[in-house]
Amino acid sequence: MCGIVGFTGQVQAAPILLEGLRRLEYRGYDSAGVAVQHGGAIEMVKASGTVERLAEKTAGGASLPGECGIAHTRWATHGAPTDTNAHPHLSGDGRFAVVHNGIIENYAALRAELLSEGYAFASETDTEVVAHLLEHYYDGNLKRAVMRTAARLEGSYVLGVLCADEPGRLFCVKEAGPLILGLGVGENYFASDVTALVGRTKNVIYLEDGEMAELTPENISVYDRTGREISKSVSHVVWDIEAAEKGGYEHFMMKEIMEQPRAVKSTIEPRLRNGRIELEGFELTAEEFSRFSRIVITACGSAYHAGMVGKYVIESLCRVPVETDLASELRYRDPIVGPDTLLIVVSQSGETADTIAALRECKARGAYVLAIVNVVGSTIARLADSVLYTHAGPEIAVATTKGYTTQLAALYLFAVWAAEKLGRIDDARYNELIAELDALPARVQRAIDLNLHVQYLAERWHEQRAMFFIGRNIDYAAALEGSLKLKEISYIHSEAYAAGELKHGTIALIDEKRLVVALCCQTALFDKMVSNIQEVKARGAKVLGLAPEGDRRIFAEADDVLFAPRGEPLFAAVSEMVPLQLFAYYVARENGCDIDKPRNLAKSVTVE
Ligand code: M6R
Repeated sequence: MCGIVGFTGQVQAAPILLEGLRRLEYRGYDSAGVAVQHGGAIEMVKASGTVERLAEKTAGGASLPGECGIAHTRWATHGAPTDTNAHPHLSGDGRFAVVHNGIIENYAALRAELLSEGYAFASETDTEVVAHLLEHYYDGNLKRAVMRTAARLEGSYVLGVLCADEPGRLFCVKEAGPLILGLGVGENYFASDVTALVGRTKNVIYLEDGEMAELTPENISVYDRTGREISKSVSHVVWDIEAAEKGGYEHFMMKEIMEQPRAVKSTIEPRLRNGRIELEGFELTAEEFSRFSRIVITACGSAYHAGMVGKYVIESLCRVPVETDLASELRYRDPIVGPDTLLIVVSQSGETADTIAALRECKARGAYVLAIVNVVGSTIARLADSVLYTHAGPEIAVATTKGYTTQLAALYLFAVWAAEKLGRIDDARYNELIAELDALPARVQRAIDLNLHVQYLAERWHEQRAMFFIGRNIDYAAALEGSLKLKEISYIHSEAYAAGELKHGTIALIDEKRLVVALCCQTALFDKMVSNIQEVKARGAKVLGLAPEGDRRIFAEADDVLFAPRGEPLFAAVSEMVPLQLFAYYVARENGCDIDKPRNLAKSVTVE
């Protein structure tokens, strides 16, 4: 939530900062701002709305001279998304500018203290206290002022600091939020993530909590909490700038839907060697693995939905009890977790605040932590005992697509690997499942090709005011994700139900105006789904059925039909999600919604 970027070099900073903000806009997009050093002072421009509005106000940055600056794109927490509340925030004397990602939990006490000392506040934000504290502590030594200021803060704060009196010098601080440093030639950067920097540098340093960095055009120094300089290793980002651009698609979401065959392949292929699964980075022996009496999967949002699918698949193949728990609940409920627990943490960004907190809570209780993460070097990846990277490439659209399907692919790999380790499946079943995994990327492509008519269906149904998604078993878990996709980008109210549960209350909402999307890809439960379809049809609802390719029985039951390619039903959630993503996309497009940047949302939820 919120994106920050800083640049110091030999060329004009503002256009580079704006370009960085454009790439970080998925992190928050209700207002933006930029501040640069120029002529011994700080010049600042802010705008409510998108980064494009800020670009218009500054002629793409050209109207702001200066070679050193900081910038921010906001997802509001404290104070409405106005020009005034937008970051950067200035100290009263105008000598310090600050950008911040996170929440300063003790800001009210600090604000009261600073007010009593005569500091005046311009905004309603928690962040402004930082600017005034910097002014308060500055005695000519910026590093010391930043350290003293940071020591006063509680909560989560990733900060970028600019001082009018320190030409070409930037400071940044990381506490409970993502921050990386970029190393250029004669220029250096900090940013919330690497997407802001690709195109300028691929050499990055990942900072840890409690670390602070000092940047000049020629040098980067990193310090620990005590101010001692520490050495950090430089990582090389592997993907190219094209990966973070739309590549001719109208929206990132559509590009990312279409990238799924390749993304799923990137998750699976490197781990299939000579017909066997090898999970590099998670190399427990059968004996070590059998110490786990239970598995807990924790995550938020779509990643949690992936975890729900994982529960069905792992329990079915491994016969080990699996619990799925929302990270925001797990962290506060004194969970029964110990050294006999394998905790699987699922996260695309690797930076979700609640998921990180749940991980820490369970790790402190002795659980072994396996993370399924997309973003390399992210906080969750670094905190976990082992990591399975999904290798989906950067996901920019707020609504996850390839992030989710690659999480499923990683969970399937884990489930089959564990089932074989535990001796719960024989060689024939193992080989069959390996072949199914190998076929998955082609199935995802087939799911795209089979559903070209989905655009027409979206035209037909986009005026619905509410929809219901129903399914059984894995299809129920997939229904939750299909429903979330629709509501988050189209703003149409939608709910997902286990199909057998509908009649225990929710069926009261079904009438002749409702569309019910019925997921029927668990072939063993097809007849049960038919009964549930009949129940809603008897109340006048229309039905959009989703069935395995070639299963003509669905035509007799549903008003409209989507298809998922046939394959192992345990792995159906990947290919059946594709038509549901496309349906949500086209419905939102029909309704003129801002698909990549839905209202009120942000891609990376780094606050509680
Ligand atoms: O980065 P994460 O996978 O940890 O994010 C978790 C959720 O915030 C995320 O899946 C969210 O629900 C999606 N934007 C929904 O499309």
